[in-house]
Amino acid sequence: MPVVESETGKITFMRFAINEHLRSVHPPPISEVKEWAAQRPEGAAPLLDLCQAVPDYAPPPELLQHISQAVYDPLTSRYTPDEGLPEVREAACRRYQRRYAAKMGPDQVCLTVGASAAFWLALVSLCHAGDELIVQLPCYFDHPMALQALGVRPVYAPYREKERGLPDPATIEALITPRTRAILLVTPSNPTGTVIPPDLLRDLYFLARRHRIALVLDETYSDFIEGMPHDLFTLEDWHSTLVQVMSFGKSYALTGYRAGMLAAAPELIRQALKLQDTMTVCQPRITQLALQYGLDHLDHWVEVNRRMMSFRHNLFVEEFNLPGNRFRLAASGSFFAWVRHPFSGRSGREVARRLAIESGILVLPGEVFGPGLEEYLRLAFGNIKEQQIKEAVYRFRSAA
Ligand SMILES: Cc1ncc(COP(=O)(O)O)c(C=O)c1O
Repeated sequence: MPVVESETGKITFMRFAINEHLRSVHPPPISEVKEWAAQRPEGAAPLLDLCQAVPDYAPPPELLQHISQAVYDPLTSRYTPDEGLPEVREAACRRYQRRYAAKMGPDQVCLTVGASAAFWLALVSLCHAGDELIVQLPCYFDHPMALQALGVRPVYAPYREKERGLPDPATIEALITPRTRAILLVTPSNPTGTVIPPDLLRDLYFLARRHRIALVLDETYSDFIEGMPHDLFTLEDWHSTLVQVMSFGKSYALTGYRAGMLAAAPELIRQALKLQDTMTVCQPRITQLALQYGLDHLDHWVEVNRRMMSFRHNLFVEEFNLPGNRFRLAASGSFFAWVRHPFSGRSGREVARRLAIESGILVLPGEVFGPGLEEYLRLAFGNIKEQQIKEAVYRFRSAA
């Protein structure tokens, strides 16, 4: 009988083996941090959750009103086409036209169960076990987890602290081998908040194009960028190279609705739909109705929230950078701060655990964002209100 030691250290007896690739993947980091929170002593100060990147506000009442009426329509409880309802995909194209001046048609759009499923669709459509994907450090932890589960090798482009984690085309080019299938970038970055400037993104797009590999761009937080994020979608044949992974979860405060999208060449989407059909079939219809409402009516609401997040960011940076703080801000943006902790020789995990238990602040350890990043912590301050920012920074200073 195979004996399996689980991540929790418990010995489990099972009459079957578990996929070795999957067993080598570390458990979801947010769950680990939430477990530390549960170990806090009774009567400790209220917890400040800077761990998960979720807007702290609700979707607007008019969106809720819209979907609450829709639930009584029997059609709402049915499947939709695998790629999503045509009218929702058309609404997405109109939104991309306004936001990116995009040359995009509904056959280049597939609605997905969150950006997470969009990433899986992209990954499985492009790679199989043994292939390589270039991943810029620090990277969003779910990405290497998915790669490892599939047996795809992440080839890491080193983190450059002075450049706030921006990618360097020459470094990336040197990592390309015959096995490379794509370059994976996230802008704005999770965990650093750094936005890749349009010119640099264009260079990286043409680099990928020259090498006949895909540029997979995760733009989950793009609605928090001021102005047009980049001009890649204005290129007539953007889809020859670009595969975009998008989430509307953060844009419309709908993270639990799992509102994602894949934008790519119609042929890639045709292939990806084989997978979507076996996995989730379609994005839930109720989510599509919420999304359509957001795409058609909420540009202004999204912009107001962008400004609020930017205000929070400025406030956070001001407070954090006041003299006397031994934690150092390495990079930051609308949702995130990427911080170097002062405890040399201690891992990010050790420091984050103590911050959770002793100071009541939940943050993620740097090492979950890639190898060699133990000296850092990620703070998601989009999660807390303005009034709590001072308190959060105060707790950091006291911990140091
Ligand atoms: C960079 C990045 N990509 C994808 C996701 C997942 O988005 P979704 O909730 O739409 O699956 C997240 C969520 O935090 C993220 O930070």
